[in-house]
Amino acid sequence: MAPAKHVLAIDQGTTGTHVTILDSRLQVVGRAYREFTQHFPKPSWVEHDLEEIWASSEYCIARALRDAGLKGQHIAAVGITNQRETTGLWHRGTGKPLARAIVWQDRRTADICQQLKARGVEPRVREVTGLVLDPYFSGTKLTWMFEHVKGARTRAEKGEVCFGTIDTWLVYRLTGGAVHVTDVSNASRTLLMDLRSLTWDDELRALLGVPAACLPQIRGSAEVYGTTRGMKSLPDGIPIAGMAGDQQAALFGQACFEPGESKCTYGTGAFLLMNTGSTPVRSTAGLLTTVAWRLGERTSYALEGSSFIAGAAVQWLRDGLKVIKRAPDIEALAESVKDSGDVVFVPALAGLGAPHWRPEARGLFAGIDRSTTVAHLARSVLEGIALQIHDLANAMRHDSGRDIPSFKVDGGAAANNLLMQYQADVLGTPVVRPRNLETTSLGAAFLGGLGAGVWSSPEAIRRAWKAERTFKPRMKPEVRQRHLEKWKRAVERA
Ligand code: G3P
Repeated sequence: MAPAKHVLAIDQGTTGTHVTILDSRLQVVGRAYREFTQHFPKPSWVEHDLEEIWASSEYCIARALRDAGLKGQHIAAVGITNQRETTGLWHRGTGKPLARAIVWQDRRTADICQQLKARGVEPRVREVTGLVLDPYFSGTKLTWMFEHVKGARTRAEKGEVCFGTIDTWLVYRLTGGAVHVTDVSNASRTLLMDLRSLTWDDELRALLGVPAACLPQIRGSAEVYGTTRGMKSLPDGIPIAGMAGDQQAALFGQACFEPGESKCTYGTGAFLLMNTGSTPVRSTAGLLTTVAWRLGERTSYALEGSSFIAGAAVQWLRDGLKVIKRAPDIEALAESVKDSGDVVFVPALAGLGAPHWRPEARGLFAGIDRSTTVAHLARSVLEGIALQIHDLANAMRHDSGRDIPSFKVDGGAAANNLLMQYQADVLGTPVVRPRNLETTSLGAAFLGGLGAGVWSSPEAIRRAWKAERTFKPRMKPEVRQRHLEKWKRAVERA
C-alpha cells in the first residue's frame, strides 16, 4: 500500500461538522458535511448533544474518505478544530455525557457573571485570562453545570468526570477514551487558564467552583496527543496531531504568522483576530487577549474581537422571518435596492459581544417607515454584520497600536460580494478574499500534518495561500461618515 500522506481535518462548528481530506500539496481531495440539532430549551439557552456531535464526526469521516476514494490507512494524521467555549461534562470511564453541552452562544449564566462582577473580581480575571466576565466563556457554564447537574460535583471531585470543550471531547472519543487533553488555544477560552504560564489557575478554579480533577491536560497545538482506537470510520493507530479553536485555526490557515497580520471569519458569528506575536497584548478597548497557538516551545498570542451574530442573522432571515429560501439568496435580495433606505440593523440577537460586552442587549431594526421593504431589511442585515466588524477593527487598531493595512476574510458569508464590498467601504481598507475560503479546515489539517511530521514548517501554507479577489473601498468619506453615525446611534439604543 502507498505510504499514508493525506491529512484529515475535523472542523466541528456550531451548526455542523465538516471533514476535509488534504493531500501533501494541501489540495482538498475529499470532504463531507453534516448539520446537527440545535436545542433551545429556554429563551437564550443553546445546547448541543455531544453524542450527536460525535456521530456527525464519524459519519463525515467515512463520507469524506469515500469522496476522496481513500481508505483509513491512507491517513497520516488527524487535525481537529472546533467551535470554542462550548462546555461538556462526561463520565471518565464510560464516555457518557452527564448532560447536553452548553453552547458558547448560551446566555444562562449572565446572572453568575453579574454576581462575580459585583464582587469586584473582573480586573483579576482579565489580568490572568485576557478575557472578560461574560457568559460566552466556558468558566461560568461550568459553574452552572456543577450547581445544576445532579451528582456532577461529587463525581468530579472523585475524579470520575471529564470536563472538555469540543476539541477535548473529540480527541477523547477518537482515542477510545484514552486521552483527556486540550490545546492552549482552546484552554485560553475557558476563564480558567493563566495566559502567561499556560496552566490552570487555582484561584480562578476556586472562584468558579471547578474541581481540579475534571480538567484536561493542556498541550501544544501541533503534537501527537494519542492515536485512534475503536472507531467505526478509521483504523486504530492513526495519530491525532493538531488541535486549535476554529478562529485560531483560521488565523493559521490564512498564513497570518507575523505580528500585525489579521483575518476576519464570517461564520455563525464573526471573529476578527490579529496575531500579536510572542507577548500577550492587553486590551483597553474591550477586545480579548487569547492564545493563537503553541508550536514546540513558541507561543503566539492574538487580539480578538468577537461578535456573536453574523451568518446567524442571515439564518434568522431564512428560518425565522422566512424572507429568503437559502442563505446565499440574501445577496440578490439586498442588491435589488440601491441602499438600505436608512434602515439600520444591530445584530444583537444574542447580546452584544466585543467591544461592548452587553449580554442583555437585543437586536434592533431602526429607521423603518412605510417605504421599507424586505429588500431594505436584507441589505441592512448585511450592513449591520459589517458595521460590527468596523467597531472591532477600530478597537484593534487602538489596542495594537498598528494599522490594519489589508483585511483577510474567510468563512461562508465571505462569499457574499455585497457584504465584502460594504466591509471594505466602511473600513476604508481593502478586503482580500483567498481562493480557499475553508481556511479553518486548512489550518487544522496543517497543524495535524505539522504535528505528525508530514510538513516541517508553516511556510508551505504561506506558499499555498492565494488571493482570489480584493475589494477596494469606494464609498465617499462623507457617506461613510453618515453610515457610521447612524450605526453608532442604533447601537446605543440596542
Ligand atoms: O467562539 C465561538 C466560535 O469558535 C464559533 O465559531 O465558526 O462555529 O461560528 P463558528
